[in-house]
Amino acid sequence: MMNAQDKIGYDAWLRYASIENGELREEYRACCSVIVITEQTKLLHTAARELAEAVGAMTGHKPEVTSVRDRQVPSVMIGIKGKGDTDGLGDEGYTLQTLEGGQEEAECIAIIGVSDRGALYGAFHLIRLMQMGEPINKLQVKESPANGLRIINQWDNMDGSIERGYAGKSIFYDSGGFVKDFTRIRDYARLLASTGINAISINNVNVHREETKLITAEYERTLSKVADVFGAYGIKLFLSINFASPIAIGGLQTADPLDPEVRKWWAERAEDLYRAIPDFGGFLVKADSEFRPGPFTYGRDHADGANLLAEALAPHGGLVIWRCFVYNCLQDWRDRSTDRAKAAYDHFTPLDGRFADNVILQIKNGPMDFQVREPVSPLFGGLSHTNQVLELQITQEYTGQQKHVCYLVPQWKEVLDFDTFAAGKGSTVDKIASGALYNRPYGGLAAVSNIGDDACWTGHPLAQANLYGYGRLAWNSALSAEQITTEWIRLSLGRDPVTEDVVSSILLRSWGIYESYTSPLGVGWMVNPNHHYGPNVDGYEYSKWGTYHFADHQGIGVDRTIGTGTGYAGQYHTQPSEIYNSLERCPDELLLFFHHVPYTHVLQSGKTVIQHIYDTHFDGVDAAAGLLAAWQTLRGKIDNAYFELVASRLTEQSEHAKEWRDVINTYFYRKSGIDDRQGRLIY
Ligand code: GCU
Repeated sequence: MMNAQDKIGYDAWLRYASIENGELREEYRACCSVIVITEQTKLLHTAARELAEAVGAMTGHKPEVTSVRDRQVPSVMIGIKGKGDTDGLGDEGYTLQTLEGGQEEAECIAIIGVSDRGALYGAFHLIRLMQMGEPINKLQVKESPANGLRIINQWDNMDGSIERGYAGKSIFYDSGGFVKDFTRIRDYARLLASTGINAISINNVNVHREETKLITAEYERTLSKVADVFGAYGIKLFLSINFASPIAIGGLQTADPLDPEVRKWWAERAEDLYRAIPDFGGFLVKADSEFRPGPFTYGRDHADGANLLAEALAPHGGLVIWRCFVYNCLQDWRDRSTDRAKAAYDHFTPLDGRFADNVILQIKNGPMDFQVREPVSPLFGGLSHTNQVLELQITQEYTGQQKHVCYLVPQWKEVLDFDTFAAGKGSTVDKIASGALYNRPYGGLAAVSNIGDDACWTGHPLAQANLYGYGRLAWNSALSAEQITTEWIRLSLGRDPVTEDVVSSILLRSWGIYESYTSPLGVGWMVNPNHHYGPNVDGYEYSKWGTYHFADHQGIGVDRTIGTGTGYAGQYHTQPSEIYNSLERCPDELLLFFHHVPYTHVLQSGKTVIQHIYDTHFDGVDAAAGLLAAWQTLRGKIDNAYFELVASRLTEQSEHAKEWRDVINTYFYRKSGIDDRQGRLIY
């Protein structure tokens, strides 16, 4: 049980602080004195309950919830209109409207969803407006999500650990399997639904022994309870599966996707699952990567593998989400013909058009693995007849592990806005991922969660902004990073303008600052093996056959050009390809990802590569200290326990940045033998 002190930040952006402005409080109270639901569905009940609780907490008067409207009493009406009447709003959209009162009739706020899920999103929208202190007496809102699938991936294991988790243990499992008390799962569902998330996979993509059994009768009852908890918030349950399940738990000799027995086995599993969980979402699959089994064992390809599962799920309306994070982790990095960056494109573009309609490929934002800076994966733009979702990593594996503040929304915005030129100018990643560019039936965003059983969910309270931002971007990729930041601050920390200025400046600068003292010019991986925290220039475990950055005494960087390098730059369409391929035009921040250059190479910024490395590392340390100093000015303006927690993390970050600076500067000073032009001390 958590006590009040432990609850620091627990309510996150659903913290319903009492409205201080008396007039506004009265307005909200009056407008929302009664909540009427027009139909009896589970999600409308959730919507009404959430709204009633929020209004109660913010105004001190909890509205009555009823199904009969007294037209003389001002009310909020929550209902469903059905597709025909809400043109262009898809299945999940909603309208939020103030209906003027008349002589006989009081004013009413109508939240009308295309479906009851839409109505739930509408209710959360109204709550958000009130939390932000916005007027609600002349509402004319029409919203629908840009992306059909807005999924969260948990990397939780059934022993309670979380792969790449930095916020405690799993909220789903403890050492004895599923947790008994689902309160925290329900609270998570609320947080997710309030940002518009509509699906979740609840086990790690690396499916180990016990997790393989999740699709068997043994777990049906528990899973159906979990599905109900999420279902009440409009969130569909998915499971990660083990491709070799027919062998591991099915008693078959093979998992060959073309084997009739194997097909029958999966079809039966699907039948059983849907009997227990009628609105089950489907499977998430990592196959033939990092020692996971897959169709390659049988001489089959990824389309064969995905279509096998698609066939089993199709009769029930289920989806297969097949990950494209496929590469040979045992490759020799000195062998340029097997550039890891090229792997996803090489594996999947030849299969374009061969995947079943209910298969979606899940593609990581970059060609590598969630580094601080990577180019956008060229697989976006390489597929036009295949459903795709963009995979992001909210958990900060390579970006400070929630000890450092690293707000990732600006990074994700760059990815979403990237123009692939696949079908001419304007073929941005957001349009490909949503399915709009090629008119695909499915599309969306996926992201690896950053929460655990930590009191504030995310270890670092400011890391909550990444989870919130992901949900908001999945709903509407056109929102700006600034808009999302402002929202998150107002909802989570209140509406004091000074706090807002300071926190938004901390968040919006944080990614750049983290990059500056960690990884220069697109070089990634300078982390310790296995846990990936802290500086180690040659450390990354999968690079033991040669350094991935090719640094020697003369120069650094990976030649991925078309003429002399690995040819990776040629996986893009002409416009981006020409830019990346050109030493002169390649943006500085990605230079060493695409080119091998001498340390004396002069960047577009006018600095040499080596001087850039020195300067950014010295400046980064100062900037990290600046984050702490900025936060310190907020003492007394923020709940003290919350304040102290963030202060302690920022102190650690500031100290750790010095270690990064010293390790990296020293390494390159010794390698290059070139002095710092400013004569600073390099250890
Ligand atoms: C990274 C990460 C692994 C994870 C993998 C994946 O390599 O370090 O822990 O399993 O990504 O996305 O499958």
